[in-house]
Amino acid sequence: MYGFRSLKLSLRFVLPLVAALGLLAFAVVPLVDRLTLRWSVRDMDMRSRLITSTLQEPLLEMLPQNDRQKITKLLQRATQDERLLAVGFCNQEQKLVYRTPAFPADISCGSIRDDSEKTLHLVNLPQGPVHVSVNTIEENGTQIGSLVLVHDMSYMVRRSADTRKYVILLFIVLGVVVSMITVFVAHLSWHGWMEGVRAMLRGEGIVKPFAQPAVASELQPLVSDLKTLMRSLDAERRMADDSTITWSPDTLRKLLHKQLTGEKIIVVSNREPYIHSKVDGEIQVHRPASGLVTAVEPVMRACSGTWIAHGGGDADRETVDAGDRVMVPPSKPEYNLRRIWLTKEEEKGYYYGFSNEGLWPLCHIAHVRPTFRTSDWEQYVKINQRFADAVVTEADSDNPVVLVQDYHFALLPGMIRKLLPKATIITFWHIPWPNPESFGICPWREELLKGMLGSTILGFHTPYHCKNFLETVDRYLETRIEHESSTVSRRGQLTLVESYPISIQWPPPWQGTLPPAEQTRSEILAALGLPPDHLLGIGVDRMDYTKGILERFNAVERMLELHPELVGRFTFIQIAAPSRSALEEYQAFEARLHALEERINQRFTTNDHPAIILKAEHHEPDQVTRYYRAAQVCMVTSLHDGMNLVAKEYVAARDDERGVLVLSQFTGAANELYEALIVNPYHVEQTAEALYEGLTMPEYEQQERMRSMRTQVRDFNVYRWAGRMLLDAARVRQREKLAVRIAQN
Ligand code: F6P
Repeated sequence: MYGFRSLKLSLRFVLPLVAALGLLAFAVVPLVDRLTLRWSVRDMDMRSRLITSTLQEPLLEMLPQNDRQKITKLLQRATQDERLLAVGFCNQEQKLVYRTPAFPADISCGSIRDDSEKTLHLVNLPQGPVHVSVNTIEENGTQIGSLVLVHDMSYMVRRSADTRKYVILLFIVLGVVVSMITVFVAHLSWHGWMEGVRAMLRGEGIVKPFAQPAVASELQPLVSDLKTLMRSLDAERRMADDSTITWSPDTLRKLLHKQLTGEKIIVVSNREPYIHSKVDGEIQVHRPASGLVTAVEPVMRACSGTWIAHGGGDADRETVDAGDRVMVPPSKPEYNLRRIWLTKEEEKGYYYGFSNEGLWPLCHIAHVRPTFRTSDWEQYVKINQRFADAVVTEADSDNPVVLVQDYHFALLPGMIRKLLPKATIITFWHIPWPNPESFGICPWREELLKGMLGSTILGFHTPYHCKNFLETVDRYLETRIEHESSTVSRRGQLTLVESYPISIQWPPPWQGTLPPAEQTRSEILAALGLPPDHLLGIGVDRMDYTKGILERFNAVERMLELHPELVGRFTFIQIAAPSRSALEEYQAFEARLHALEERINQRFTTNDHPAIILKAEHHEPDQVTRYYRAAQVCMVTSLHDGMNLVAKEYVAARDDERGVLVLSQFTGAANELYEALIVNPYHVEQTAEALYEGLTMPEYEQQERMRSMRTQVRDFNVYRWAGRMLLDAARVRQREKLAVRIAQN
């Protein structure tokens, strides 16, 4: 089989080559023929002139004597030259007066008179081709006749045949040699290429991303393409595998048990999933408004283990044990929450300062300038170290699986790696990653990148953020980046940089426990003092300038300007959970938002039906869900957002398959929820029209869109998000174990 394939390969190279050489020979042979003829004729011509000048003197002496015998003898002697066939003398009257016996009868002085100027004359006679040359004989400048020399040219025919034979032979030899070389080189290259492809198929291209290239450098681009293809096929295969399973807490538990031998999971985040605080002297617990908590908490409940976070509630200390731990959720304890205490000064520098005045605006392109202070940086380093030490305390083996969450902990992976070199560290960056130029603003950019590269796996929401990160590393650090396998190697530490779009719990925790959406709408409208047929829009965010809330309000105002029939018939409810309100930027933002709400309501409030209701306070998840179920339209208009889970929560809340999602193109969610009305929130008219379209969309269309989005959120739920990361982590761990075993043998 290989022999046949190799013959086919050879023929593929050789046949065109032979055809090209044949064509070339076909064109070259007549050309060579013509050239040799021209050179021979030129030779004959010169010889003729030479013979004429030799004969001229004796001829001039003999001509006056008119001695025919003597003259003929002289001419006869000249024809002893083997090529000179005959010589004749024509007088001024063009009469052939003397000639040697072999002078062809077909040639007469008259017949060549017209061409006498020419030195070159070929004539085909019955006995063969001849060259006829006519040369003037002069005495003292007066022409007294001309000498006609006839050369035999039959040798030319022989020479031409020989030349043709040799040229063809030359082309054949050339063809054979060139074909052999081509086939030899082609086979060598083919062999190398096949080896490279086989190596990849054996998984070496992916498993050993930093191995020396197995194929010739000129074939590297092809190999790169193949590797990329393999990766995407691998990813698709994994997705197909994944999609055959319904991802649930149970699948995640089984995965942990089978693939990670039941390792204990340690999650690290700044924000804690349950906050204890005192209200009127009584301890209450609440869930913070945080996409991170929404996503990671169900995973943690499925996997159990320990969640390390900042204890920020004013009753947090009262609810922990001696090891600063408390079992949560309070209603059904499933995992440990380990609280880390920060002083006001530490929180100011690490959280408000470096994380939220520095990294937050740095990573979100939302037109707020980042601020970097050395004192904040120092706190950031100090607190990251404190959390790293806590990880060591909480780990019950030397190779725990640690899930590091978000931009508050860029240094943590590197610090954990130092303390627990064998740990599997999965870092997830919940916010966007900017381009290298933007990130370059940060005075501690190298330190942050080095810290992050302590991770085994570094996850972002989108491939675009991964690309930005790899480009940033490439710009500022000495590393080896393998784009095909999306890995970075620095000082022997390999980090897989991959996109893992985050999601929410499915089925939602309240599934089957809530009244029908219609009923919820009626209740909410009644509570707000609005008529039963009033239209509602909803926005749910932290009070943050990246969320595009001002832009959203402007769009509401514009929509009412463009469609006045909806004035007094539509209200937009904005839930804005207080966030980072110690920062001036956030205080100013909140003030602007209130002012805008007031101005719009002054213009458009009719019959006590306001255009906008701004609820700037914390709402528990069940309350938020009720608003989702009541609103005809949900608006997510972030100016820049890693994923935005509000979009997915709204979809999950609509088990009635009604409602329309207006979604900013600058969210990660826009890459998944295609059936939303995608808008550019900076374009006020476009957003206003999308809102109007949502409010007036026919039910069947709402249903089609919502059904499709629900399928997406169901299949790509948060268990799948965590599962994919843990599966990748398990693969890396297995590979590392294998490498150690190979090294020991
Ligand atoms: O959006 C990024 C993020 O870290 C989320 O993961 C989380 O929802 C939010 O910011 C937390 O904000 P904060 O804890 O500062 O209130």
